[in-house]
Amino acid sequence: MIPVITIDGPSGSGKGTLARRLAERLGFHLLDSGALYRLTALAAQKRGLALDAPEVAEVAETLNVHFAGDGAAFLDGTCVDSVLRTEQTGAMASQIAAHPNVRAALLARQRAFVQPPGLVADGRDMGTVVFIDAPAKLFLDASVEIRAERRYKQLIEHGFNANLAALIDEIRARDDRDRNRAIAPLVPAAEALVIDSSHLSIEAVEAQMMEFIRAQGVV
Ligand code: C5P
Repeated sequence: MIPVITIDGPSGSGKGTLARRLAERLGFHLLDSGALYRLTALAAQKRGLALDAPEVAEVAETLNVHFAGDGAAFLDGTCVDSVLRTEQTGAMASQIAAHPNVRAALLARQRAFVQPPGLVADGRDMGTVVFIDAPAKLFLDASVEIRAERRYKQLIEHGFNANLAALIDEIRARDDRDRNRAIAPLVPAAEALVIDSSHLSIEAVEAQMMEFIRAQGVV
């Protein structure tokens, strides 16, 4: 069986960074499932659809995306990196993500990422829905304030405008929607190792994760 390591958690918890580092370290493939929800939202917007329109599920089903070797995302052949990671796109993604048909349409696409020698999957429901049998499930959390600060720095580094107070509000709103939705809400799997990264360095979190992954017999 091809091993899958799942890393779930809210926006800004550091799961994207940790997932990338673990995948590199282990030589595993990487699934950034949030990017698929973001790309679906952008594709729906491009077609002029309301975010709650039933056709958004078709958009998800037929999404024409590819990821370049450096991680750059292309939608219908056009690089969309400049808009993909904005908080506005994140908010749109979280709106379409509440719809069961959209989630169902993305299931097979996400599972297709399971390729030898293994996969690190980053998202909200990787351990609870998409890869229910994964041998190592991790859940990364951090306080809203710390997550907003990290997001602020990231946005500024990438040349975007950002306002810390507005970010705290946006992250709270997105958290509420992701944690309280009826389908695949953001919760740790019962067997997940939960790590609070608020006051830990990336290296310290990575060390805890590796210890758990080894203890689970994945590597
Ligand atoms: O992780 P990221 O911030 O890119 O995710 C954007 C949004 O996509 C999340 O706020 C969430 O609503 C949705 N999402 C999801 N399930 C996943 C990954 C992302 O519902 N597995």
